[in-house]
Amino acid sequence: MEGKMTPFKALFAAATLINLATASQPGAARPVAAPMRNLQWGQINFLHTTDTHGWHGGHLQESQYSADWGDYVSLAEHLRRRADAEGRDLLLVDTGDRVEGNGLYDASSPKGRYYYDIFREQAIDIICTGNHELYQAPTADGEFQRTVPNFQGKYIASNLDYIEPESGKRVPMAQRYKRFRTKNQNLDIVAFGFLFDFTGNANNTVVQPVRDTIKEPWFQEAIREQPDLFVVIGHVGARMQEFKDIFQAIRRQNWFTPIAFFCGHVHVRDAAQYDAKALALGSGRYFESIGWMSIDGISKSKDMATSASVSFQRRYLDNNLLGFYHHTGLNSSTFPTERGRKVSKMIADARAALDLDHIYGCAPKDLWMTRTPYPGPDSIYSWLENEVLPDVVVNEERKHIPRLGIINTGTIRFDIFKGPFTKDTTYIVSPFLSGLKYIPDVPYKVAKKVIKILNNGGPILSSPDVANPRFMAIPEQITPREPPVQPAPEAVFDVLPDQDGGQKALGDPDRQPALVAGYTTKDDLGSDGDDAVHSPLNFYNVPNCIQAEIGFPADAEPETVDLVFLDFIQPWLILALKFSGGDYREEDTVPYLNGTLTELMVGWIKENWKIHC
Ligand SMILES: *[C@@H]1O[C@H](CO)[C@@H](O)[C@H](O)[C@H]1NC(C)=O
Ligand SMILES: *[C@@H]1O[C@H](CO)[C@@H](O)[C@H](O)[C@H]1NC(C)=O
Ligand SMILES: *[C@@H]1O[C@H](CO)[C@@H](O)[C@H](O)[C@H]1NC(C)=O
Repeated sequence: MEGKMTPFKALFAAATLINLATASQPGAARPVAAPMRNLQWGQINFLHTTDTHGWHGGHLQESQYSADWGDYVSLAEHLRRRADAEGRDLLLVDTGDRVEGNGLYDASSPKGRYYYDIFREQAIDIICTGNHELYQAPTADGEFQRTVPNFQGKYIASNLDYIEPESGKRVPMAQRYKRFRTKNQNLDIVAFGFLFDFTGNANNTVVQPVRDTIKEPWFQEAIREQPDLFVVIGHVGARMQEFKDIFQAIRRQNWFTPIAFFCGHVHVRDAAQYDAKALALGSGRYFESIGWMSIDGISKSKDMATSASVSFQRRYLDNNLLGFYHHTGLNSSTFPTERGRKVSKMIADARAALDLDHIYGCAPKDLWMTRTPYPGPDSIYSWLENEVLPDVVVNEERKHIPRLGIINTGTIRFDIFKGPFTKDTTYIVSPFLSGLKYIPDVPYKVAKKVIKILNNGGPILSSPDVANPRFMAIPEQITPREPPVQPAPEAVFDVLPDQDGGQKALGDPDRQPALVAGYTTKDDLGSDGDDAVHSPLNFYNVPNCIQAEIGFPADAEPETVDLVFLDFIQPWLILALKFSGGDYREEDTVPYLNGTLTELMVGWIKENWKIHC
């Protein structure tokens, strides 16, 4: 048998080849095949990313989302080529929150040292700003000085100004809107780029409330243009009032013109049908998803009768190499483009330079934000409340005083998976710079009511002085969610990509893989939006805030406590104290500990999760 390859050996050789040729990041989980639904190509087609939060290296620990930004560059190149060949148009959209939430952005000093050059490699046609680009003044500077010029002519800021540091002059962050024609069909498009009515920005930007922007003369003129299609992109959830207001303003002037909305901020896959000729698409979060929208029946004649049959379709692509092979008909050796490979290498080099795989400790089990009930043994919030906060909320000078430690659930951004907790994981789980403050010696009968008001006091806390209390919770909960749907028993999908991208017909029961858990989206168009068919994940709501009681006497209630809290929630906390009968002001709050909550949590992990993985 010497020299002759057995079938087994041949298979093994092929698999090894694939490993070498696969792009994505070194060490990333291998994608797993799933039954697939195809892309529905239309006259004009869009690829949409949003809320990528620095995850441009992909999800190294999750096989279903382990492609990287370089793979997306390759995907877009192939799909553009197909659009060109077939005389269709393809546009790429990104709706903000590109930064904060992953070591690739947050771990460098200054932040984003590698991110700007990586992100710009994707040829995005319409792009706008999210709130995360604006919390910290240097982030907004970076946006204005780097991302805006990187996407010159593509970047739109309909309701956002920047204040130049030297002159103090207030200028538009970018053009207010743009009118352009598509490459292949010469479609006439008017596009806008909005941010929701965000108030937490640093003082070097100014966000104009949307209800005011739509009264501006430039906007009123723009919506009186007679394009073939309006494209409204925004860091705004599909079911948030800001987009409804824009929709109504446009419709008052244009009863029939189709409008495509691209949404962000709320981190969900969602499509909202505003009317028969307007669809709003939300494309998830953290570069797990790439949204697809296609439109047919766009009329260039402005003849209302012929534009009567506009139709919209949508697809949510998992950020998954096998899915990308499927949608392009390519495989591991033909899929990566030169530019895509270059970008994957830029990311790998940056991850190595930042030492993102450096291990701080080893998580003994999975800890979930919303996949298990809170409180509960596998809840990340119960872990914080019962294990972490009692150990870290300790000020040496006041450690004998009982205290309440209150943090908001939104400060946690991602699950912790069993296994290595790395430098990268740190920024993934909590990228924020918030620290702990306190109010000393608050009567316990006042302090103990605060958590209830923070969590249930929506109406009570709806004061003009503070933002919506829901902003303390996780973004995924800002708009109400449908429960997960079971995958349809009848296969609406038609092919099953193999590990090498070859396509196998469904129907052969031996070839049906066990479904991987993932998105099972239900939106206004139905429950067939996801490209890969998954088994559903549970989703449990979490409160706005959680609280740990620390150093309490065993037998009695304390008279007074130190009320310790994450500085992010201060405006709501002060208001909640008023409602519970405590008259405190901002001046009464003092730093409790040095360091951010994230640093305190990592310190705890280094100490308590020392075991080897
Ligand atoms: C913003 O606040 C900083 C720090 O308080 C201050 O130095 C700066 O002048 C302010 N900038 C503007 C544009 O108001
Ligand atoms: C990919 O497809 C090309 C062209 O169809 C083929 O020659 C090649 O063997 C395939 N590669 C793999 C790894 O399947
Ligand atoms: C923070 O650190 C400074 C300098 O080390 C120290 O003087 C101060 O007391 C610390 N504050 C708290 C609240 O621990």
